[in-house]
Amino acid sequence: MADQPIVLGIETSCDETGIGIVRGHTLLADTIASSMEEHARFGGVVPEVASRAHLDAMIPTVESALAKAGLRVTDIDAIAVTAGPGLAGALLVGVAAAKAYALGLGVPLYGVNHLAAHVAVDQLEHGPLPKPCLAMLVSGGHSSLLLVPDVAKEVISLGSTVDDAAGEAFDKVARVLGLPFPGGPHIDRAARDGSGTAIAFPRGKADDGTLDFSFSGLKTAVARYVEKNGGSLSLPDVAASFQEAVVDVLTRKALAACAKHDVHDLLIGGGVAANSRLRALAQERCDAAGVRLRVPRPGLCTDNGAMVAALGANLLEAGVAPSQLTIPADSSLPITTIHV
Ligand code: KG4
Ligand code: ZN
Repeated sequence: MADQPIVLGIETSCDETGIGIVRGHTLLADTIASSMEEHARFGGVVPEVASRAHLDAMIPTVESALAKAGLRVTDIDAIAVTAGPGLAGALLVGVAAAKAYALGLGVPLYGVNHLAAHVAVDQLEHGPLPKPCLAMLVSGGHSSLLLVPDVAKEVISLGSTVDDAAGEAFDKVARVLGLPFPGGPHIDRAARDGSGTAIAFPRGKADDGTLDFSFSGLKTAVARYVEKNGGSLSLPDVAASFQEAVVDVLTRKALAACAKHDVHDLLIGGGVAANSRLRALAQERCDAAGVRLRVPRPGLCTDNGAMVAALGANLLEAGVAPSQLTIPADSSLPITTIHV
């Protein structure tokens, strides 16, 4: 095992400066500096503030990851970096740093897709990915169902949101309820004291036969409900009923995708995969359908550098040629492009 390559992963697609180090598929360090507090008062991530924070955090975060792993920078065999999708300026900081490390150390560079990295990270916790597996990625920026024959070689998009991402819906509804940003964890917590069946909120696109999602109608329905019932509403019931509507549709569509493509392994990733009700309902429905469920621990579901390093290790293992030092940051990199 000791001779497996050591990969350093750099993630800067949003507000987290994530640095991860793996040896093969063993996690050695996962260090994160977040600029979330600087964005909270704006109710969302401010791209320029995020870019500057990445610049300040980059070198200290790399150094703390190396210290945690007990390594020197010269021990690194390859650099992997999120090349997209994400915020253009934020991505640019990570890509520039990755090129500098790769050039300075004389090691290969792998520019990778953020979404494929969310899939690859699960190997660090639960071992090799089944081929194929079905992946549902739910975060503040994306809600997608993917068929993954091999995360190093082929990722196929089966469906995605037609409007808001699942995490975006959590954040917007939290705002309507007067809860802080990012709203997901606060709704999750508030919902524990409420009933998921108290209010019948709409399940957009639930039965339309597609593998796409829609959450903007639900968001509007919650806003209308709050407007109408202002003083007398039960916040825990609204939170729980909203959350139930989201996770009901997510799990229904994920299992429909498994059935349609005859896949028996479902992986859920992205920040919303930290949601306790989503984890519980997905487990219940997977058990009933004979599908094995894999969900990384919450710290690996939200954006981090370990996921990027994990995908880099897959690419090395598969003998994929490294990226050119001229690669761009691509804010709208399609999910089917695993590396650039
Ligand atoms: O993957 P992530 O860290 O960043 C993006 O790439 O967007 O996901 C962040 C999103 C936010 O919308 C946040 O509210 C949501 O994940 N989130 C949750 C929970 N924890 C984070 N949503 C629901 N329940 C949670 N426990
Ligand atoms: Zn993400």
